[in-house]
Amino acid sequence: MKSSIFALVSGAFLLASGVSASDELLPLPEEVSAQSDALATASFLDWFTPWVKRTWQGSNYQCKCAPGDYCWPGEWKWQLLNLTVGGNLRVSIPPAASCYNTFQGPLGNLNTYDAAKCAEVTANFADEQYQINHPTAGLWTYFTNDTCRPTTNPSDSCTNGYYPVLYIQAKTIGHIQAGISFARDNNLRLIIRNTGHDFLGRSVGWGALVINTHSFQSISTSNKWNGPGGYSGSTITVGAGVRAKAALQHLHGLNPPKIMVTGECATVGVAGGLVQGGGHGPWTNREGFLADTALQFKVITADGWLRTANAAVNPDLFWALKGGGPASFGVIVEATYKTFTDLPSAAVSLDINTSHTSDINQIWEAIRIFHSYATHWVDNGLYVYYEIFGPMLHVQPFVGINKTQAELQTLIQPLFDDLNTLGVGFSTSNRTYSTFYDLYFDLFEIEAAGSSALTGGWSISKQDHAANATAIVDAFKTMTSSGAILVGHMWNAGGGLPQSQWSKSAVNPVFRNVVDKIISVVPIAGNAPLADKAEAQQRLTYVVDGALRAAAPRGAAYVNEADPFQPEWQTAFWGTNYPELLRLRRKWDPKGVFYAVSTPGTEAWTQIEEGTRLCKKI
Ligand SMILES: Cc1cc2nc3c(=O)[nH]c(=O)nc-3n(C[C@H](O)[C@H](O)[C@H](O)COP(=O)(O)OP(=O)(O)OC[C@H]3O[C@@H](n4cnc5c(N)ncnc54)[C@H](O)[C@@H]3O)c2cc1C
Ligand SMILES: *[C@@H]1O[C@H](CO)[C@@H](O)[C@H](O)[C@H]1NC(C)=O
Ligand SMILES: *[C@@H]1O[C@H](CO)[C@@H](O)[C@H](O)[C@H]1NC(C)=O
Ligand SMILES: *[C@@H]1O[C@H](CO)[C@@H](O)[C@H](O)[C@H]1NC(C)=O
Ligand SMILES: *[C@@H]1O[C@H](CO)[C@@H](O)[C@H](O)[C@H]1NC(C)=O
Ligand SMILES: *[C@@H]1O[C@H](CO)[C@@H](O)[C@H](O)[C@H]1NC(C)=O
Ligand SMILES: *[C@@H]1O[C@H](CO)[C@@H](O)[C@H](O)[C@H]1NC(C)=O
Repeated sequence: MKSSIFALVSGAFLLASGVSASDELLPLPEEVSAQSDALATASFLDWFTPWVKRTWQGSNYQCKCAPGDYCWPGEWKWQLLNLTVGGNLRVSIPPAASCYNTFQGPLGNLNTYDAAKCAEVTANFADEQYQINHPTAGLWTYFTNDTCRPTTNPSDSCTNGYYPVLYIQAKTIGHIQAGISFARDNNLRLIIRNTGHDFLGRSVGWGALVINTHSFQSISTSNKWNGPGGYSGSTITVGAGVRAKAALQHLHGLNPPKIMVTGECATVGVAGGLVQGGGHGPWTNREGFLADTALQFKVITADGWLRTANAAVNPDLFWALKGGGPASFGVIVEATYKTFTDLPSAAVSLDINTSHTSDINQIWEAIRIFHSYATHWVDNGLYVYYEIFGPMLHVQPFVGINKTQAELQTLIQPLFDDLNTLGVGFSTSNRTYSTFYDLYFDLFEIEAAGSSALTGGWSISKQDHAANATAIVDAFKTMTSSGAILVGHMWNAGGGLPQSQWSKSAVNPVFRNVVDKIISVVPIAGNAPLADKAEAQQRLTYVVDGALRAAAPRGAAYVNEADPFQPEWQTAFWGTNYPELLRLRRKWDPKGVFYAVSTPGTEAWTQIEEGTRLCKKI
């Protein structure tokens, strides 16, 4: 009762303080003038947090409020929130609901059938861009529970699964602040959703309110950074919703063309989950992680305050946002990064598969030889992106930034010589580009969305590569024969970056010494029986990734591309940085307003009742 009165008060304060749809999108208001509702609600409402008590498998929990609970906000509260966010609050409906007569949602049934929309979603379900544009979809459907895929039978059942309940299509900073405060005061599960790429299901969730950052598309550049951090070169400043493609296109249009660190995938956002996990890509050998190139964030913390975080202002928050875990310390609304002059680049692709030899052992021997060069290549500045399954090896591409084709060939020729000695056939092609940008858009392949899999992975350090190369490839064999597809990324995040810079980001220090970061993908239907899902998860954790961890024990796991349920995830993801990240999480988000699986300080939190209710063990 008390909590609802206070929520009303805080809502009225929001309206009175003018945080509404009329706020400017960007540039941001100055920090001081934008503090809106935070003061009104932050501390004294803590006493009135409504919890739902549950018992699950013999343990007691206090849970966030979900539809149907006594503490789920009533209609008038939602309407007040909707007013506060300029009418941008919406009920979430799964993308394929238009193929069904009825969407049986958590807020009631809706008639959803629409033949034209169904045809569109059926044709585009595997299209990344289509899923990104949907406000609440997860690109990899496993963590949506796959309860509403496209169908030709409209009378089938479409339920919400683990899709969120409602979302705010935030257009202003005030909308994000209102969403954070509403979720905090009403104790709702809150999810920040940018592109929906997250492999670990961190941008979807049962019973949740989502803040979608898609509208924050501003991009600006500067030739000179005047802020703190000991850097005075060129920069790019991007809004929360900007994806790599738009940022790189903008930079390429400058004279001379510039570039920034991004992932290998052009549709991943550059100011959301990528930088908060670290953000590795083809430029990582030269400049480290995207996080290492960050100069400043504008971020809204759990108390609703808009803050600046850079080397001088809130430096602890700045450090934590650089690789300390997505959706943990605040909502980034804007990020500023270093940019670099783009450079001519060379590329080679390589295939060895059953069209070259029918001898499986020969393919594995070729893979062993290929992998034995990992340290040699990254030490010489190459980035190598490859896939192993079947077994077959697909390398697309070897990247040599600021290298001629002849220089790149010199580094790869020993592999070709070995393959010729082995007597295995292979296909190769090569191309030279006037900029890395041209290479990137020519060679990196678009991924398909809409499929269902568990994602794991582990990264191999230089020491383990030197000591145990054969055992590592034996582990690859175990992994593929246990149903996994391997996606490898040879880079070293320390090589090109002065050692004095390494500790300035929260990423696991082990990455400064890694030569290959591998993703393991275990396909499993999102609506498979629970026992099958449990088996696949066990297989991923203990057989697939277990094999690689055993063969490369001095490695690390990358928080954006790894198994969140692996043992000792704290050390695997952050190594010696974990205790400080835990302290900072308690400082900046003491109540657990944000939640993403296996991020700092979430040890007591779990999704009980078969992956649904988000609860804290008591
Ligand atoms: C095809 C593909 C290729 C990839 N390639 C690479 C790669 O080369 N290098 C690499 O490092 N990673 C790569 N990734 C992984 C990528 O880093 C993660 O998927 C990342 O989480 C995506 O971030 P996002 O903001 O685009 O996506 P989302 O799924 O929308 O968000 C991911 C997480 O970040 C949180 N979040 C999003 N925006 C904000 C914000 N503004 N403030 C606070 N929290 C926020 C979300 O709540 C969620 O927890 C790849 C992923 C895919 C699917
Ligand atoms: C929020 O308000 C807008 C505009 O009035 C309306 O279209 C929308 O349906 C409302 N959202 C909810 C969840 O009621
Ligand atoms: C999730 O999927 C499983 C099957 O894998 C099913 O048993 C369960 O009921 C589903 N839960 C929800 C909330 O959709
Ligand atoms: C590019 O390579 C040339 C020749 O090796 C070298 O002189 C130059 O410094 C390199 N440029 C950059 C920016 O790395
Ligand atoms: C093997 O690689 C070649 C490229 O060199 C490709 O065209 C072919 O489809 C691949 N074969 C299989 C079975 O994947
Ligand atoms: C590089 O490609 C050219 C054709 O574009 C080819 O003549 C040359 O042999 C290739 N080099 C290698 C080492 O594959
Ligand atoms: C090498 O790999 C094997 C097999 O996984 C493992 O038992 C061994 O401990 C590893 N050796 C080293 C030095 O890490």
